[in-house]
Amino acid sequence: MKTQVAIIGAGPAGLLLSHLLDQQGVESVVLERASRPHVEGRLRAGVLEQGTVRLMRQVGVHDRLDREGLIHQGVKLAFNGRVERIDFVRQTNTPITVYGQTKVTADLIEARLARGGRIEFEAPVKAIKNYLEGRPRLVFDQQGQGRELICDFVAGCDGQHGQARRSIEGQGVQLFEKSTPFGWLGLLAEVPPVDKELIYANHPRGFALCSMRSPTRSRYYLQCPITDRVEQWSDAAFWDELRRRLPPAIAERVVTGPRLEMSIAPLRSSVVEPLRFGRLFLAGDAAHIVPPTGAKGLNLAASDAYYLSRALAAFYADRRTDLMDRYSQTCLRRVWGAIRFSWWYTQVLHKFDDDPFSQRLQSAELLYLTGSEAARTAFAENYVGLPFEPFE
Ligand code: APR
Ligand code: PHB
Repeated sequence: MKTQVAIIGAGPAGLLLSHLLDQQGVESVVLERASRPHVEGRLRAGVLEQGTVRLMRQVGVHDRLDREGLIHQGVKLAFNGRVERIDFVRQTNTPITVYGQTKVTADLIEARLARGGRIEFEAPVKAIKNYLEGRPRLVFDQQGQGRELICDFVAGCDGQHGQARRSIEGQGVQLFEKSTPFGWLGLLAEVPPVDKELIYANHPRGFALCSMRSPTRSRYYLQCPITDRVEQWSDAAFWDELRRRLPPAIAERVVTGPRLEMSIAPLRSSVVEPLRFGRLFLAGDAAHIVPPTGAKGLNLAASDAYYLSRALAAFYADRRTDLMDRYSQTCLRRVWGAIRFSWWYTQVLHKFDDDPFSQRLQSAELLYLTGSEAARTAFAENYVGLPFEPFE
């Protein structure tokens, strides 16, 4: 099998890349380890920056997004028993769109296949060969048989535990990592959300987040020790703890119901530098993980896909190599911008220790954030998404 760009992974990064390349006349094949139902069933985050929405529109995959995406003009912050609001539209003229990553993925797969695109499911990549010199070759399995895909370039969009990340180990890679001793316990339920906007809560017992997937489906999160197991948490214990961490006026409005899903996600960051190794490019979670607090993971996957598609298209159109040469640098600037924001926001909202000094600092930080026009604007411009860099 042969193609121009071999894409490993049918997550948001790989799928969006395949659409963007197609639009610019570049051929690709996506190889995905898991089955289509598995990929479409994975529950992930749900906040789209305007830039991500623009990319979905650009590739013409926006019908359901326009119908079901919830436009939010701001978010709420609960702390010290009060609730404050930051209005994104007022501060930056830009809203966010609440739309599950599960739907983003399903929409991109459906449109790609409808347009004759090639996505091979249940086709795990076992090795990436010749990416430093010569013609790259992907060795993968399909229906118990070893197969090969020969290509000009490889896009490693296969997430944090994928083959791309494994392949580059020991090649002068720099790894930057930070983790916390806690995670997020998430619960999904078919109940109306407690508020029409997201509520981020700082509480002496730990952080809580009220989010949603639709007007009838809620997604809630609680900070928990990373050593906790889902089996330790009954639905009742989850709802009780959530209500304890919210201001009383909000807590009493929480509608509870049985879980559709419950899981624990770690809060950590990890960045690989550089993102390019000869003809292999890393994008999305394969390149970087951000803590979920700022909801940046999916949006960074989308901006990486955009930068990579532009760089590869410029090569095929004009044999330009300068955008590929700058790919790492261009992506990493936006990645570190998002990590800076996500870590700051994580530190302001979570319980790190019992030190009253830390608690006073958090309180001062939140009062300044919500009380100062300048701070609200700085928050809003990061939350709605830092701009993409223009290409010359
Ligand atoms: N061969 C083929 N596919 C693979 C392999 C492999 N060896 N290893 C992993 N994959 C697939 C996974 O099954 C998954 O479908 O790569 C895909 C990677 O997708 P994501 O994990 O969704 O990563 P990405 O597209 O970068 O999207 C990042 O997803 O994890 C969230 O919070 C994160 O929102 C962010 C977004
Ligand atoms: C989610 O709805 O899953 C979600 C929302 C906001 C975040 C993180 C996750 O910051």
